[in-house]
Amino acid sequence: MDDPEKLLRKYIKNENLIKHCYSVQSAMKFYAGILNEDTEKWGAAGLLHDLDWEMYPDTHPLTAVPILEEAGYDREFIDAVLGHAYPDRTDVKRDTPLAKYLFACDEITGFVMAYSLMKENGLNDVESKSIRKKMKDKAFARNVNREDILKGAEDIGVELDVHIKNIIEAMKSDNRVNIRQ
Ligand SMILES: [Fe+2]
Ligand SMILES: [Fe+2]
Repeated sequence: MDDPEKLLRKYIKNENLIKHCYSVQSAMKFYAGILNEDTEKWGAAGLLHDLDWEMYPDTHPLTAVPILEEAGYDREFIDAVLGHAYPDRTDVKRDTPLAKYLFACDEITGFVMAYSLMKENGLNDVESKSIRKKMKDKAFARNVNREDILKGAEDIGVELDVHIKNIIEAMKSDNRVNIRQ
């Protein structure tokens, strides 16, 4: 298996996108830890789920498949990556915990990150309650799909408030993501 970080850097140069990938990696590792799953694999799925987004936005995430296969990732892993874009871009349903958690961690980390950028102390100033309130502000972070956030939490069976708290904690404790620690 190739070093996932190296693979990420090979395909993604945009620092904001890299930070998004780190955020999802941290969240996935956090959940793998509490669920007794493979933290490296779950983390790598978070890290690499948007691998082809910068170079091939029109065919994302399909273009990532041969790259991930070549790197040695298994079917479950690749289906989870494909599943995060179901049903808009792929027809691969999210059947496994890996796929469900990946989907659940994707949009919400983006929203939390966007919100934290308005705060003086970044992520350290972010609380679940204020995130839930801000989600109702349709003009804010428009590109983040609220429905997907709700659906993601529902599919993993974690109450939205608890899920957001977990996401904040995971992102806060990652010094690549939380630069104001
Ligand atoms: Fe994506
Ligand atoms: Fe993403």
